[in-house]
Amino acid sequence: MIRPASQVEHVADPLRKAGRMGNCPDPQTFLDMSPKLDLEQLDRLHDTSVLSSSQFDLPLMRELMKLAAYMQLRKFEAGRALEDKILAAAFFEPSTRTRLSFESAMLHVGGKTLSVADAKTTGVAKGESMRDIGQMFNSYADVVVVRHTEQSSLQDLAEYLRIPLINGGNGSDEHPTQALADWYALCKWRPELAFGKLPDKFRLNIGIIGTPGNMRTVKSFLSLALNFHENINHITIFSEMADPLGDEIREMTNNSPIGIDFSRNLQQSLEYLDVIYMNAIAFLGDGYRFFGEAFSLSKKSQLKPDTVILHPLARGEELSTDLDETQHNLYFNQADGAVWLRQALLLAIFGRVRHVVPREFIA
Ligand code: CP
Repeated sequence: MIRPASQVEHVADPLRKAGRMGNCPDPQTFLDMSPKLDLEQLDRLHDTSVLSSSQFDLPLMRELMKLAAYMQLRKFEAGRALEDKILAAAFFEPSTRTRLSFESAMLHVGGKTLSVADAKTTGVAKGESMRDIGQMFNSYADVVVVRHTEQSSLQDLAEYLRIPLINGGNGSDEHPTQALADWYALCKWRPELAFGKLPDKFRLNIGIIGTPGNMRTVKSFLSLALNFHENINHITIFSEMADPLGDEIREMTNNSPIGIDFSRNLQQSLEYLDVIYMNAIAFLGDGYRFFGEAFSLSKKSQLKPDTVILHPLARGEELSTDLDETQHNLYFNQADGAVWLRQALLLAIFGRVRHVVPREFIA
């Protein structure tokens, strides 16, 4: 039985007060903007692998986010829509959020999970090929989420898989479900992004700290940002690198009406940024590189009062914990919402959306 949202809020409120910090936009407000679900859009994901953010246009994102909001509001009564399904989370590189949120998403709808949390515990440590590992996934699971240090790993695996494959981050290439979670947080914060047109003076100025050319979260975030061109005024990329975009992203952004420029001076730009997308980690070869003080934010930074900060986490010194309790902190909400966004994605991939939403919610 589906309870009215008002009663669900009553249940969720104490949790919010007890555990949530920062900016917590209400999923119900987002849902109220367009309360009927267009299942034709979500059917596009049925039995489909998710390898790149380029698979998601605005109409599909909109319906996915609406389903996520619906599930987020009903987390305690989501039913057992995926009880006959098994998700394998195969992480050949460390993760906190992506792996656990996929597992949590699956468990909330009655599904089961198998997990590889450390490549050393698999045949990879003995030189086993991705091709043979792919064959095993076919036998053991119904969907597989993979994270790997190598960009080519997913293509190698996809060739031998007969079940949907979800990219949980492949080297410096893409992290599409992270970007979906990023935009889910932003669209709950400003629902007009998804459903309307902001007046010109409120169109967003977005700052992205990092190099889209070699940082997967930044690349995927920027790729999806292009879908919101009507509501974005400008994007500034803050990077120390001479060419933060690289050829592939430059070609992608060249065709967009959004103005994009580059800067090395974050602190002087804070007065006009509405959204700041931070990131701690850049892949350079097999290593990590941490950004320094020039690209750091704290409570002392001269942020506009309503600026929000996104960060896919894990954070480094660039994001001070003294921002956690402020309204600038949208990053915890971003991580929190990822569970419901990923759950919506799984329901769509398995063609089970009709199992969880009532007829009156379908357009
Ligand atoms: N955002 C993200 O990818 O976090 P994890 O590395 O913890 O999965």
